[in-house]
Amino acid sequence: MGRVALVTGGSRGIGAAIAVALKDAGYTVAANYAGNDAAAEKFTAETGIKTYKWSVADYEACKAGAAKVEADLGPIDIVIANAGITRDAPFHKMTPQQWQEVIDTNLTGVFNTIHPIWPGMRERKFGRVVVISSVNGQKGQFAQVNYAATKAGDLGMIKSLAQEGARAGITANAVCPGYIATEMVMAVPEKVRESIIAQIPAGRLGEPEEIARCVAFLVSDDAGFINGSTISANGAQFFA
Ligand code: CAA
Repeated sequence: MGRVALVTGGSRGIGAAIAVALKDAGYTVAANYAGNDAAAEKFTAETGIKTYKWSVADYEACKAGAAKVEADLGPIDIVIANAGITRDAPFHKMTPQQWQEVIDTNLTGVFNTIHPIWPGMRERKFGRVVVISSVNGQKGQFAQVNYAATKAGDLGMIKSLAQEGARAGITANAVCPGYIATEMVMAVPEKVRESIIAQIPAGRLGEPEEIARCVAFLVSDDAGFINGSTISANGAQFFA
């Protein structure tokens, strides 16, 4: 059995592709999800990857969830903080609730995910942390004041973690996907989506597997000196 990897939001979209890529690379994978039981059951049936239900917005649930995964599979050496949500609205229409829900999941959720696992990584002198940020955290996006703030915050978090973990053999890096063909992007109104695709020099949406391959590289032994970095995978839409 390979090292144990936890992928949050790992039963659908980019997270599911990451979970599968890590399993294919020989890791033992646990996929966390928050609410969609049917999708999680289907994912496990199709891939054999175990799924675990908790909300990343809840610190105690993250702590208990990580403990359960470790009891089942062994110490978590690799954590992929991927779970994320959108609550898009132009700023003048954005409600405090829309702001808070996105902060709780996309920013505090990343803290909640990594924090209970970090001490074990320090003790074992090995760890791989990857946060899935976004091109919109790098460039900002109309109707995403909340989302862009969290995704930019995630980048500050990994740069700080990289400095804290380096001596303990832990790397912390980010991947910034552009617009990827997932349910999240498909939920954008079609006309708006078409205008976004027109701004992507590659002329297409990315595939979840294209993000998963970036993650598989960052968690590999070969990437041990890459720490505090961001891989942008956006079809040349934006250069950070
Ligand atoms: N730039 C400038 N103006 C824009 C704009 C843009 N990118 N998008 C919309 N507008 C304008 C519209 O033309 C409209 O102007 P008028 O009032 O003059 O017609 C106004 O802004 C929008 O007003 P509405 O009242 O129609 O807006 P709404 O309350 O219905 O909200 C919306 C619509 C939520 C903004 C919708 O257009 C939308 O979902 N946009 C996409 C936002 C987006 O890209 N989200 C990314 C989701 S994918 C993701 O997040 C994954 C990732 O990491 C990349």
